Formats: sequence, structure tokens, C-alpha cells
Amino acid sequence: DNTTPIARIAATRLDDAALPVRLYYSQKVFRSVSGDHGHKGEFLQVGAELIGSDGLQADVDILSAAFEALKNAGATGFRVEIGHAEIYKALIETLGVDDMTAETIRRLIENKSFAALGDILAPYSAKPEAKALYAMPQLFGGIEVLDEVEMLTGNVRVLGAVAYLRRLYAALDSAGFGGAVMLDLGLVHEMDYYTGIIFRGYIGGAGGAILAGGRYNALCAKFGRDLPAGGFGIDVESMAENLSDQQTPAQTRDSVRIALTKGRLEKKTLALLKSSGYDISELEAGSRKLIFTLPDTNIEIVLAKAADVITYVEHGVCDMGVVGKDTIMEKGGSFYEMVDLGFGKCRFALATKKGKEVYSGYKTPVIATKYPAVTRNFFARRNMDVETIKIEGSVELAPLLDLADAIVDIVETGSTLRENGLEVIEDVAPVSARVIVNLASAKMKKAAIEKVIADLEAGLEK
Ligand code: PRP
Repeated sequence: DNTTPIARIAATRLDDAALPVRLYYSQKVFRSVSGDHGHKGEFLQVGAELIGSDGLQADVDILSAAFEALKNAGATGFRVEIGHAEIYKALIETLGVDDMTAETIRRLIENKSFAALGDILAPYSAKPEAKALYAMPQLFGGIEVLDEVEMLTGNVRVLGAVAYLRRLYAALDSAGFGGAVMLDLGLVHEMDYYTGIIFRGYIGGAGGAILAGGRYNALCAKFGRDLPAGGFGIDVESMAENLSDQQTPAQTRDSVRIALTKGRLEKKTLALLKSSGYDISELEAGSRKLIFTLPDTNIEIVLAKAADVITYVEHGVCDMGVVGKDTIMEKGGSFYEMVDLGFGKCRFALATKKGKEVYSGYKTPVIATKYPAVTRNFFARRNMDVETIKIEGSVELAPLLDLADAIVDIVETGSTLRENGLEVIEDVAPVSARVIVNLASAKMKKAAIEKVIADLEAGLEK
């Protein structure tokens, strides 16, 4: 992270500099990356910070610098989405939940996971804050989202942030950046040092944000000097790779490309596309083809294995995907999880041989599974240490052969367990098919993606 060390330098080594201080940097950032997700562990970031200055004009200056940076680098058709840290903070504090629940809610808003967000907020549904928190991830687009949030809540801190965003939007519009600004009230940052506006920038072809920033008025004070501050950083390599004059035709495509999971979910997903009004006759014809264009639409369909659906969507080579919650829970990643399609229903369960005690004795339980991440997370939530063994298929064999004390696996009808003398000890999580959307596509192709989602939701009703 570059922001925290800059706040430290501003508060300590530059303590006699005249305010405001304008700083820029160009240096490598290192991130811990796990697995083969194709994310960079090291990249060059260029950024600018305005320290010692607060208020509308300061925010306009910071954002204008960000817009100019993108423009001068040759980016065309970029979008910068702006949110406000106060909105989530005010709502969650008024809702009054413990820190762990608050963080789960924050993460679900960030991922636009409507289904899970609805579940976790259900016990608080009588409170207006719960309704507003549930709506947050849907509130992205033009100035109209501010009208919507004003109708949802009377929370004064939220209304203050909304009024501020309205003034900021107008100021950016008159500075000539109106067309590139979007509002996303569901923008909730993992870094809790943000106190005011938060923003991210997108360009076509890059699967994620290439620019990120915001206001962090309380950070310098932690290093001994109370200074308002704000700024942004640009991922130089992602930006350079995706500048319009360097893009391949594949990167500049304007189609909506949807990745569907082959196998288990395939039949039901195709049936849904059909009832949603799409002509899928070429897909039904049964060929070895992997990419199809739906007639009379700008939609391409890609057929892939479940985990690959996530990979293609995360990297933005597909804009959307249909994939099981089981794969989402196991693989994780950055994307929006926008619709629970309700089919492909099954559950993760902990199971073992009938009558066997899994938790007895001093031995660490051995759990066999195709889903080691789901298993580790389940037991970690219980503060329990288990040993996991990865099995590739027919996991039920492991306890039968005495390799493991129990399994964590998908249970659909329960007949595999029954026919092998096993039983469920505990349910772990429900599973069903979800629609996932690439972070940048959700902003850059908002209308087209919303149309597909609306069609699918109408198809589900039929
Ligand atoms: C899944 C799962 C169970 C079975 C559960 O396996 O791993 O074995 O289905 O379904 P049921 O409750 O309806 O019996 P899958 O068919 O995907 O095969 P695999 O284990 O060989 O990968």
C-alpha cells in the first residue's frame, strides 16, 4: 500500500512544509497473490496526493488530476465511479451489529452478492438501515441513484454524504468530466482509512479497476499530525496494456459475452435462456463448438468448466457467467455475484459413516473433500483444526476406506450417501446457480448487462 507510508511521511518528515502539500510517486507495489489466478504480485503504481486541504474544491482537484492523467495517457471512453465511505459507515453503525457481521455485510455489498446480503440482513428487516444496506449494491449509475437513496433512508449522515456527492457531481460536470462519472453507492473499501469520497477508474479491456483513490482524513493523525488528505493511484501496466491504440480487436469487442457452466447446470441454464426469449437452437444442436453468437443479439455464449467460468469472468474476457455457488465458495475471486437463479439447488454437508463420532478423542479429525477451501473455512469459523485431504471424485469412498473421519461434499438427493451407509452430520451451506459479472463490464456495459439480467429474471418467472 502506498497511501499509508505517504501519510506517515507527510505527518512526520514534512511537518514544516507549507500546506497544502502536493506529492506524487511512481513505485512498485507488491501484493500477496495465491493460486494460479493470473494476478500480478508486483506492479508499477503512479499516484498523486493532496495533503492539508479538504472540501469540495480539494476533491474536484484530485478527481480532475485523475481524469487528466487518464486522458493524457491516451485512454478513451474511461469511467470513474465515485462512492462515499460515510454511507456504509453510517448505516452499519446505526444497525448495530458486531464487527464480524459488519465485515461480512461490507464484503457482500462490495461483491454485489444480493442473495447472501438478503439472508444476513433478514433478522434486521424491520430497521430502515437494513433496507438501505440491501439496496446499496444496486445503487450505481447516474445522478438518479442519489434520488433513490434519499427515498430509502432519513439517516442524516447518509443524506449529508448524498448532498455532497450531488455537489461534487455538478462540479465535475461543469469541469467537463460529466460523461465519464458514474456513482456507485455500493463502493465500500476494504481499507477502512477512507473517510469521504472513494473512487475507481475503468477502461475497456482491463478486467478490473486501473485507478483507485479517495479521501482519508484520519490517517495522518495516526502518525501525529491531524491533516485532511486525499489522492489516487494508477496501475500503470494494466493501463498501458489496455490503451485503445494498443488493444487487440478481442479487447475492444462490444458484445456481451456470457460463460456458461458445462455439465450439471448446462441443461437448466439453456432452458432458462430459451424461456428468456433467446434463440439457442445452435447450442441445442449438440456440437463440439465452444463459442456461439445468439441470433439477432450482441450476445456471445461460451461453454466452460465451472472453475474456468470464474477465471474468464474475473479477467474480463467474458462479461458475465452462470456458475454454481459451490465453485464460487471454493475458488473465490473478484466479481459481482448478482443473481441467485434458484436452480441447481443442493447443499454442502459434513457427512460420515452412520453412527461414527467425528469429534471424539484427541486425534485431529481428517476430512476428505473435493472442496478444501470450503472445508477449511467451515472449521475455521468453529475455531477447529482439521486435516483436509483433497479427493478428486466419489469422495464418499474416503470414510468407507478409512482414509478419513468424515467428508465435506455436495449432497443433492442424498442417495449417494444413503446407498453407501453414510449420513449427514451437519449442513455447511446451501448451493444454487448464480449469475456473476465482471467488475469493469458492470460499469462499462451497464445497460446491456442489465438487459440480460432483466431477461433472465423474466425467464425465471415463466
Ligand atoms: C456429486 C457429489 C456426490 C453426489 C451427490 O458428485 O460429489 O457424490 O453428486 O448427489 P446425490 O446427493 O444426489 O446423491 P458428482 O456426481 O458430481 O460426481 P463425482 O463425485 O465423481 O465428481
